[in-house]
Amino acid sequence: MEATLRRLETQVEAWRKRVKDANERKTYDEVFDHATLRVLQRLISHGVIDTLDYPVATGKEGNVFRATSRHGGRAVKIYRISTSTFRSLARYIRGDPRFLRVGGSRRKLIFAWATKEFRNLTRMRQFHVRVPPPLVVRDNVLVMGYLGSKARPAPELRHVRVDDPERLLHLLLLDLKRLHRAGLVHGDLSEYNLLLWRGLPYIIDVGQAVPLAHPRAEEWFLRDMRNLARYLRTLGLDIDEEELGRRARGG
Ligand SMILES: Nc1ncnc2c1ncn2[C@@H]1O[C@H](COP(=O)(O)OP(=O)(O)O)[C@@H](O)[C@H]1O
Ligand SMILES: [Mg+2]
Repeated sequence: MEATLRRLETQVEAWRKRVKDANERKTYDEVFDHATLRVLQRLISHGVIDTLDYPVATGKEGNVFRATSRHGGRAVKIYRISTSTFRSLARYIRGDPRFLRVGGSRRKLIFAWATKEFRNLTRMRQFHVRVPPPLVVRDNVLVMGYLGSKARPAPELRHVRVDDPERLLHLLLLDLKRLHRAGLVHGDLSEYNLLLWRGLPYIIDVGQAVPLAHPRAEEWFLRDMRNLARYLRTLGLDIDEEELGRRARGG
C-alpha cells in the first residue's frame, strides 16, 4: 500500500521535473494532491490499473493519463480539486434533475461532475453511441477504456486528414441519432472532442452532457450542431446546422 503510494509519487515527480513551464508544473501539483494520490493508490491495489504510464492531455478542469491494466490500456481522467477555472461546472449540474441534491461544496461538486461524466458515458454506451467504455469512477478520478496504441493516443479529429468526409458524416449521424435517442445533449461537441480510432469517430468529454429536460438543452443542442456543421464544412461538405440538427433528431 505505502510502496504503491511512493512509486506514484516518484512517477509524478519525474513528470513534473520534465516540464519546463512553471504553470504546467503547478498543474501537476494541483492534480496530484494527497487525496487524489490516495484514490490512485486504491485503484492500483484493487487491480483497476497497474501503472500510470504518461500524461495524454492537460485541460482546463482536469488531466488525462494513459494507464495500463492487466486487461489493456486505460484512460484515467483526473478532475482537479483546486483550479481557478472551475467556472462553468455549476450551471451544467444545477438544472440536471439527476443532481438536484448536490450541495455547494466545491469538492462535492467536482465529485458529482466526475460521476456525471461516468453516468453519461454509461447511458451513451447503452444506446450504442461510440464512446470509450466507462470502468470506474471514484471521487474525482474516472477510469475508462483507452483509445489509441501503446505509444500514443488516438488523434482528435481536428488533427486528422479526413479522406472520406461523406463517410465520416454518415458515422457521426448514426451516433448523433443514438445520442438523441438516449435523451442527451453533449454540450461541447466539436472536432476537439471527437477522436478517430481505427477509422471510426468516438465521442469523448461528456461530463457536461445534459438530459433533454435541462432548461438549456435546446440551446446547447443547437450550439453543438453549429460547431459540428462548421467543422464539416471545412471538410468540403455542404451542410448547415439546421439540416444537421434535423437529421440528428432522426428527421
Ligand atoms: N479514452 C481516451 N483515450 C485516449 N485519449 C483520451 C481519452 N479521453 C480523453 N483523451 C485525450 O485527452 C484529451 C482531454 O480529454 P477530455 O475528456 O476532452 O477533457 P478536457 O475537458 O480536458 O477537454 C482529449 O482531447 C484526448 O486527446
Ligand atoms: Mg475535451
